[in-house]
Amino acid sequence: MSHHPCSRVATSPAPADVPRRGFFTAATGAFLALIVWPRSVAAGGKSWVAVPLAKAPKLQTVGGSMVTRIRGKELLLVRDGHDSAHAFEAKCPHEQCDINYSPERQKIECPCHDGLFDLTGKVLSGPPPRPLETYQTIVDGERILVRIPA
Ligand code: FES
Repeated sequence: MSHHPCSRVATSPAPADVPRRGFFTAATGAFLALIVWPRSVAAGGKSWVAVPLAKAPKLQTVGGSMVTRIRGKELLLVRDGHDSAHAFEAKCPHEQCDINYSPERQKIECPCHDGLFDLTGKVLSGPPPRPLETYQTIVDGERILVRIPA
């Protein structure tokens, strides 16, 4: 146990401030890296795209949804919780009708032939031959990040 590097730092005698400060800086750096990670990945522009809530008022409230085009893909974005959102291809895989989110049912509906999907994109009923394509999302403060393969 006395060989563990952490215990050495913790028990090291004077000047006690130096290793403590070093440890604090390292811990703070790791902590900041965790917070900043989604932002910096998004800023890199490779795969995460930020949708600012200020420009997407329908996504500001839980139960809201909207269709938008990101990187050439038409997407249905759904805000189903304070910290939870989903992104789907916006056309039904059956005959390409526009799908929509029902906040009452908490499901994705296709009005053309009553196709019904859950929030993982799985077909619950109706004729759609395959699940909806889904995209990873993160609710990040005042924006929603959507992961679109570059
Ligand atoms: S087009 Fe959606 S169920 Fe037929």
